This record gives sequence, structure tokens and C-alpha cells, in this order.
Amino acid sequence: MEEIRRQIEELREKIRYHNYRYYVLDAPEISDAKYDRLFRQLVELEQAHPELITPDSPTQRVGAKPQEAFAQVTHRQPMLSLENAFGRQELVDFDARLKRYLNLRSAIEYTAEPKIDGLAVELVYENGRLAVASTRGDGYVGEDVTLNIKTILAVPLTLMEPKEGPPVPELLEVRGEVYMEIEAFQELNRERIKKDLPPFANPRNAAAGSVRQLDPKVTAKRPLNMFCYGVGEVRGANFETQMEMMLTLQKWGLRVNRQYIRLCKTIDEAVNYCGQLEEMRETFPYEIDGAVIKVNSMELQRRLGEKARSPRWAMAYKFKPTQETTRLLRIDVQVGRTGVLTPVAHLEPVEVGGVVVKRATLHNEDEIQKKDIREGDIVLVQRAGDVIPEVVMPIVSKRTGKEKQFVMPKNCPVCGAKVVRKPGEVASRCPNPNCPAQVKEALKHFVSKGAMNIEGLGDKLITQLIEKGLVEEPADLYELTKEDFLKLDKVADKAATNLIQAIEDSKKTTLAKFIYGLGIRHVGEHIASVLANHFGSINELQNASEEELLAIDEIGPEIAQSIVSYFQDEENRRQLKRLLESGIELQAPARMAESPIAGKTFVLTGSLASMTRSEAKEIIEKLGGKVSSSVSSGTDYLVVGESPGSKLAKAREKGVSILTEEEFLKLIQGGNHE
Ligand code: IVH
Repeated sequence: MEEIRRQIEELREKIRYHNYRYYVLDAPEISDAKYDRLFRQLVELEQAHPELITPDSPTQRVGAKPQEAFAQVTHRQPMLSLENAFGRQELVDFDARLKRYLNLRSAIEYTAEPKIDGLAVELVYENGRLAVASTRGDGYVGEDVTLNIKTILAVPLTLMEPKEGPPVPELLEVRGEVYMEIEAFQELNRERIKKDLPPFANPRNAAAGSVRQLDPKVTAKRPLNMFCYGVGEVRGANFETQMEMMLTLQKWGLRVNRQYIRLCKTIDEAVNYCGQLEEMRETFPYEIDGAVIKVNSMELQRRLGEKARSPRWAMAYKFKPTQETTRLLRIDVQVGRTGVLTPVAHLEPVEVGGVVVKRATLHNEDEIQKKDIREGDIVLVQRAGDVIPEVVMPIVSKRTGKEKQFVMPKNCPVCGAKVVRKPGEVASRCPNPNCPAQVKEALKHFVSKGAMNIEGLGDKLITQLIEKGLVEEPADLYELTKEDFLKLDKVADKAATNLIQAIEDSKKTTLAKFIYGLGIRHVGEHIASVLANHFGSINELQNASEEELLAIDEIGPEIAQSIVSYFQDEENRRQLKRLLESGIELQAPARMAESPIAGKTFVLTGSLASMTRSEAKEIIEKLGGKVSSSVSSGTDYLVVGESPGSKLAKAREKGVSILTEEEFLKLIQGGNHE
């Protein structure tokens, strides 16, 4: 029996250690399969000897029955909130205030770190064992969510005695933020929508909803994580600085945001770092809504003390919000290049994350139904980075009863053709290839920068060319004369000459751009260049079978089918023939065997001096390489420009080759790029 007890304890220690490597340090030492084996061994031993199960065993994270209600927990020390600074000046003012208060002339040192958008939780460890976990509540009394928090794998059930540094204290109240990563949140919402459950508005609500529901089995299924950022009462340990405290928490097995906590010698350094974090905001896998700066010296923290609701020694620098509420005035339907009808929300203009938003996509009919968005609703609108703004959900409590439900029109709003929606598809389409909206969008696409790049030929001119009956399909562009352009509004002699020249210039292009310009469904710029590299000529591509296409890396059944059916269509073949007869000269792609970067995957970070990112991407793809947006183990090179982002650290960690701009240029010039 003693032998088994020893074996069990040994397995538990191993599992705790590997949990720590994986969840806290983000540096696993063993494979998932090996970890699973250890875990299974422990489960089997415990099943055979249930009397040896202890509540802090790694197997005991889930399993408790749903609770009736949460008990109340009084925090030994109140869980305070943070004062907010909007803008950099308010941080500088804060620093000046502290110096005055402390009667200090020398600079104050700060730590600065991301402010995680989740929910605050306190963990109480007694003699190294997790005793209670609670929510913040009103700051004084919170809810006992111990059983739910225990299911979070990043939360240690017992603390670790460090090899060096202070031993685990008798009492430790540690505070932190429980959150859900953005991708996990989106996946969770997709699942919920499938099951007809209402989606969560944002990752924070998803995290809070997961912690504050009564069944730990449900919490266990939610991909929650936690970063610790501070302590309440501690008995048996002392820290000199905030930074030392964070490092010690990590040594004890708690997860802290080590990578992004910076020690700043002056307020200027802290302000700069806050600015950097705001710029990097979109690159984080979780949502951050600001940065927190804290006085580093514990002695100074004690001297500064607390105000009613917040400590005097910390400040939250709030980023510009990316979600706002506004009124949805009406829903219009737009017809795209491929005939898809997209409902578009017209909004009362509102500033979101520094940009005024007036319109937002509603994706499709089902999405509107599921979110129950109605005309006249007050809605939550969000933007993330350069992504098109989106309507998240209606604020149902603000309804007056006058809101109007949306119905997809039965007929195309532009040409009147009967709208079709194929079973199994969410998109409604206008089936008429001659629909003026589709023709216009197809032409706009054909002349766009990534395709034939006809400079100066914008939306308004194209509309006029179509209205005057001068252009019906791309090949018509190549028969336009200067006189035709002079017939249009606001086109003077010089402009007409330039337009004709631009059209002429566009005839010399690459096969990839031409393929992209055709506007085949699912064939974006990248796939177009894959096709160009593979087939080398439009003829080869035109006659490719589905099997041949499927054999190409990166081409799946949907793309293959779309390409085949495009070239089977008589009308498309006729239009293509006319285009090729209009004098377009297609440069074959660089021969891959000679390209030093064929098949290599690149990631770009920072700005390059000699070209834009999209130019770099174009060159890489032309030479048979690939460009990906994030660093992974499949990345071959990271090209680093001025002020690189977090990708650099990730690349170093993964051992990816790092190229300066100069090295990158050398590498690509080794190929036969013209
Ligand atoms: S320090 C005395 N650090 O923001 C309070 N808070 O708006 C010390 N938060 O209630 C808080 N990330 O839940 C701190 N890195 C971070 C944080 C953080 C998120 C939350 C926390 C707090 C709220 C205040």
C-alpha cells in the first residue's frame, strides 16, 4: 500500500510539473501523448484505490456536481479597482502627482503590462493548497467559484516549492484575470449558434459566463485561462518590488504574463511601452483593453496606500474602445461580384477605436436571424484592426416595439432576377450573370490593384462606362477610345489620355494577376499565384481537371470545383477568348527550379524601407514562396523591418531563420526576379 501511495504521489508531482511547463511557462518538455499516458496511469491507480484520492490530485479538477447557488466569500483585503487614464498626458500627470505626494525628486520606477479584458478572480492558497477561489463581487464580498476555477488547468491546485527563492508562504491571496482567448471564444460561439444557443457578445462575457454558472462540468469544457497580476494578504513572504513579486509568483507555479511585463525606469519609458502595447493590441491572442502601470517599489506602494476604490500606486491606461453602441437605421442589400446578396447595416455614425463607422456587414440572412438584429435596434458594433466593422448584437432591453424584422428580398434589388438560395448554403444569390451590379463589381475587381491594376479607373468611371453602354465585360475595356472617355462626366483631355495609356500598360502583366482578375470564386491573390506557378499558362489552367487541381498543395475540393465550373461555362470561355485576343501579354512565372525560395514560407514583421509589405508579398509569391501572417513551426523565414512586433520573439523561440531586409533582398535577388 505504501508503495502505491508513493507511486501515486510521484505521478502527481510529475503531472503538476508538466502542467507548469505547459500552462505557466509555455515551454512543454514532453509530448501531449506522453502527458496523456502519465495522466491515464494516475487515473487507473486512483480508480483501483479510491481511498487514496485527495482533492488536490490533478484528476480532481472536474467531477463535482452542479451547485445550488454560490456561497459568499469575504475578501480578507478588499479587491480594489483601478483608476483610468485616457491618453498619455494623464499618465504623466499621475507620475507628477505621486512625486508631489511622496515629496520625491528622483524618478519613480514602474512596471507596465497589458490589462487583460476578463474577470477578476482571487485564489487563496493555504499552506500551498488552493483553498478558495472567488469572484471580485462588490470588492468586499464575492462568490465562491472554487469548483469552477479548479477546472482551469493554468491554475495550480498546489503551489510548488521553488529551487531557489522564497518558500511557499503559509497564506497567499493571489489575484488575477480569468479570460478566454479570441479564437476559442469564436469557436465556442460557432458551436453555440449551431445548437441554437445565444452567442456571447465578447470573450469577456464568455469567460464571466463560464465562471459564474453553477455546473463545473460546463466550466471545464470552456477554454479558460488565467494571468495573475497581484496579491492580497500574504503571510510568510515579503517582496521588495512588484517585479520580484511577479517573478516569485511564477516560481511558485502561478501563471503571470512574464513576456509582456516590463520594468520601466521612468514614466516616459512606461508611457512609451503603453503606446507600444496599444499598437500591438491586435497581435495578442486575447483581448486587452489597456495597460496597467504600477509603482515598482513595495515600500513606495505602502506609503502611497489606497483611495476609496483604487490604490494610489497604480493606473490603467485605457486603449480606445473597439466596441460601441449605436442605432441601426436600416438594412440594405448589396450585390457582389459573384452575385451574393450581402445585407449591410446603415448606422448612425459612431466612433469605434478611433474611426467613424457608418456601415457594417451583416454577413447573411441566417446571421441576422440568429442574432435577432432588427432595423431600428440599438446595436453593439465592433471593429478589430482593419477588419470590416461588424454588428455584434442588438441591445434588446432598449427596444421600443417599433423595430422591423429583416427579410431577404425575393428579387435582386438591382436587376430584379429571382433570388436563389441553394440548400446547405447560407448565401442568397442573384443568378443573373448580366446583372449590372455583378458586371460592375466584376469590372472593379478586374481593374483593381492586385489584378490588372488600371490606374485611375475607379468606381465612378466604371459606373458611367456601364450606364453609357460602353462597357459590358472586361474585354470591352481594351476597345475603348479616347473619345469614349471624353463622353464621360468630368473627364478632360489629359485624363482621357492617361486612362487610355493605363489600359494599354495593363496589357503587360503576370499570369497570376490575370488569373486573379478573372474573379473566379474562391481564387484570391494567393491561390491565383499558386495556380500560375503550377500551370505556367492560361491554356493549361483552362483545361485542368478537378483531379489535377486537387493534387496541388493548398487546393481543396471547393476551390477545384469552382475553377472547373468557371472554365466549363460557355460565356466565361467566350469572354476569356476575347480578352486574350485583345493583346494581353502574360509573363510566365519565374521558373521554380531556379528560385531559391520556392516552397518556403515567410512571415513579415515591421516596415521595410525598400518596399511595402504587399510588394514584398508579391515578390515572394512570384518566386514560388508563401507568405503567412503568423509565425509557426512551419515558418522558414521571418523578415524583420523597422519596429518589428511580437512575431520576432515568437520566431526566436521557434528557431525560425531571421532575415534583415538586406539579407532578404539578397536572397530574392539570388532568384530570377526581374
Ligand atoms: S492590477 C488594485 N493588473 O482590471 C487592483 N489589474 O479595471 C490591481 N486587470 O479589477 C489590479 N489586467 O480585474 C491589474 N495586469 C493587470 C490587469 C488588471 C486586468 C483588471 C482587474 C481590475 C480591473 C480594473
